[in-house]
Amino acid sequence: MDIIEAIEERSSVRTFNGEPLTTSQIESINAAMGCVACPLPGKWSMDLQRFELTGPQRPGTYGVIKGASDFLLLGFNGTDYADAVAAGFAMEQVILACTQMGLSTCWMAGTFKPGDFGLMTHFPDGMELQAVIPVDVAAGKERFMERVTRFTMGSKNRKPMGKLFFVGDWWQPMTDASQFYESLMMMRLAPSSTNSQPWRAIIKGDTVHFYCKDANKVHMLDMGIGMCHFDMAERYRDITGSWQVDASKAPAPARGMTYVASYTRD
Ligand SMILES: Cc1cc2nc3c(=O)[nH]c(=O)nc-3n(C[C@H](O)[C@H](O)[C@H](O)COP(=O)(O)O)c2cc1C
Repeated sequence: MDIIEAIEERSSVRTFNGEPLTTSQIESINAAMGCVACPLPGKWSMDLQRFELTGPQRPGTYGVIKGASDFLLLGFNGTDYADAVAAGFAMEQVILACTQMGLSTCWMAGTFKPGDFGLMTHFPDGMELQAVIPVDVAAGKERFMERVTRFTMGSKNRKPMGKLFFVGDWWQPMTDASQFYESLMMMRLAPSSTNSQPWRAIIKGDTVHFYCKDANKVHMLDMGIGMCHFDMAERYRDITGSWQVDASKAPAPARGMTYVASYTRD
């Protein structure tokens, strides 16, 4: 499965087959974590941990997740938006590698009990556990609760391209004539908290300026995840470019938007 197929294939899974990961799957995930590269400034820490499904160490997810004992844990400093963006960008590379291995995942920034998970990992000073991600083989059948969750969040739906991405200014929706259409299409398929899709972008020549709608820590994590998909799609097409964080060169944000970063093709 290539990276574009992985982006198209991935969806959040909350019911797993109950079997722990095999040693070779763990090795592959550890290798993927070792290869993560992030072109944006920011610090994070990630880990893969196994938990008991029964007994006192059982991690609490308010019943959202069933049958997974292996979890990716993501830590960063929750007060710095740059760390949240970089952490999302980095971890999504691991998520897509897991998809390529035939494993399923579900980002979780809300429905887990940090104390239960935090006991197992000590992040560097100043970093705290911010997200956990079960990773395992999906169960054959979705639970009723999972179907309800996906339906309530409208998980299958994505906003139209022209409502997320613009050319030149905020009043000019992007069309499929844009050179960035394919890569931004991959951003649109990214997962986001409550499927909020806070990604917005304005194209100016060879540069895409990215903004976050209703910025907060979790939406900045969503931004990093979406920008990772965009970056992967550029690389897949052998297009090279560079990332910068320089608000002075970007069009002014519209109301409710926060500038995040810019990408320029070489
Ligand atoms: C940063 C982040 C946090 C999330 N937190 C939760 C969560 O706490 N509980 C949950 O059930 N799903 C959570 N999700 C999954 C989203 O609901 C899901 O990505 C979205 O509905 C789109 O569905 P899809 O991933 O199947 O495409 C989270 C996703 C992201 C990216």
